Amino acid sequence: MRLTVVSGLAYACGALAASSSVGSYIASESPVAKAGVLANIGAGGSKSSGAYSGVVIASPSTSNPDYLYTWTRDSSLTFKALIDQYTSGEDTSLRTLIDEFVSAEATLQQVTNPSGSVSTGGLGEPKFNINETAFTGAWGRPQRDGPALRATAVMSYATYLYNSGNTTYVTDTLWPIIELDLNYVAGNWNQSTFDLWEEVDSSSFFTTAVQHRSLRQGIIFANLIGQTSVVSNYETQAEALLCFLQSYWNPTDNYVTANTGGGRSGKDANTVLASIHTFDLDAGCDATTFQPCSDKALSNLKVYVDSFRSIYTINDDISSDAAVATGRYPEDTYYNGNPWYLCTLAVAEQLYDALIVWDAQDYLEVTSTSLAFFQQFDSSVAAGTYDSSTSTYSTLTSAVKSFADGFTLIVANYTPSDGELSEQYSKSDGSQTSAVDLTWSYASALTAFAAEAGTSYGSWGAANLSTSSCPSTSGVSVTFEVEYDTEYGENLYITGSVSELEDWSADDALIMSSANYPTWSITVTLPASTAIQYKYLTKYNGDVTWEDDPNNEITTPASGSVTQSDSWH
Ligand code: NOJ
Ligand code: NOJ
Repeated sequence: MRLTVVSGLAYACGALAASSSVGSYIASESPVAKAGVLANIGAGGSKSSGAYSGVVIASPSTSNPDYLYTWTRDSSLTFKALIDQYTSGEDTSLRTLIDEFVSAEATLQQVTNPSGSVSTGGLGEPKFNINETAFTGAWGRPQRDGPALRATAVMSYATYLYNSGNTTYVTDTLWPIIELDLNYVAGNWNQSTFDLWEEVDSSSFFTTAVQHRSLRQGIIFANLIGQTSVVSNYETQAEALLCFLQSYWNPTDNYVTANTGGGRSGKDANTVLASIHTFDLDAGCDATTFQPCSDKALSNLKVYVDSFRSIYTINDDISSDAAVATGRYPEDTYYNGNPWYLCTLAVAEQLYDALIVWDAQDYLEVTSTSLAFFQQFDSSVAAGTYDSSTSTYSTLTSAVKSFADGFTLIVANYTPSDGELSEQYSKSDGSQTSAVDLTWSYASALTAFAAEAGTSYGSWGAANLSTSSCPSTSGVSVTFEVEYDTEYGENLYITGSVSELEDWSADDALIMSSANYPTWSITVTLPASTAIQYKYLTKYNGDVTWEDDPNNEITTPASGSVTQSDSWH
């Protein structure tokens, strides 16, 4: 009795201490992060002199590295955060700035650059000079996430305006900007791209995920404002994108491989950023879109986080189930390969997002895929569905909250006293390094803090999406069994309507095993989610005897294996 009270108090104090220091960090850092973002937006920003109106600089740093440019990715992610603040009523003063951003982006869309003109691929150009001219130096181009992220940001704003009655501005001014970007996504998603880190030219999970989101959101938005002629193409391309998205999953090691090229492990903040920037509360914990609380995204998160435990000195002596500093990817050597604030904050944000969903749906599911993630907190936890009234639910959700807070506290610990956030913090002592005042670092703090407070923003149509019509990549294992009493020398065969069953050929029919005679069996790999017809036949001294009509039929499952037991007819 007494022990229970003592340990209960100790737990309460520990939890209180952690949450109040997260709370005090968020309270002090929020205004610094907001001011840090605003300082980096032209023309009035205090640290962005020379930037045209609405142009977001990546950082005021002009050497080591020179980041005094505007990147479509950084700008769009930053303005998505500001637009969410505006449309949710959190900061109604942002309207003018958002309009300036939109018109700066409209100008940049039309700037012919080394990737092309507006109609020949120029929308994939990653960065521009801050006076809205083309950057013509060598660079990793194109980067095809930019148009998708910009369309998502502008649509979030436009949806709000349209629903508030400002339909003309939306239809005449915003829709043409959005449509250019969405048409670019729809027409080019299947081309190779440099990844968000501007290094690997291949296919990239983050890019595919945000492209998919932009088209789904585009379908809803186009329907809302009556621009329905684009919808069927966007639907076709979104279906194909969703199928392609599945292919990044590594089912052997349970994580998302970030890029198809690059020759790396593929463990990468790319995947965590994809999950938080495609979060849709309405989709629950659906793994099809790698929602933050999905079993695949949680397993992936653990694999990603664990890849940094032993490579940064500042992570030494941190226990294997506690938060650590994380960076872009473990093989990174850019500025010696350090942790990045925006990457560590993304981990916290994914976990905060997960907590929002579990709280909303009042249960939490542990599957064989997410078991290793949850067993970090309780080694005895088993796969199952835990209602919010169960102690397992309470134990796991409070452990996940502490784990999430741990990442915020790592960032807090390595934030200097003035609150300024650079791009990286040193892997050996946590001091700031690389670009100072990185806009994206500040934006990532704003979005992580909003998630910590339980806030989520508009749905983009991620709920109930199906991959059942996707072409099968691997196939499923089907065991056919049938009982048959044969003469000596007589054997059983199977053939059917697919090439795997020899296309109804009696000559090439597959011989079955009599290992469990009188049951004959065979295991074959068949296309998933497919209706297949087949028959058994016997061959005896060259004579073929088929089963009578009708044909047998099986619809194969989407994945896994199945046994089909028949009786000869
Ligand atoms: C600049 C890019 O911004 C950075 O991501 C990359 O690592 C370096 N170039 C080296 O290629
Ligand atoms: C390098 C990062 O890798 C890239 O993602 C970013 O867009 C630029 N720096 C500018 O911040």
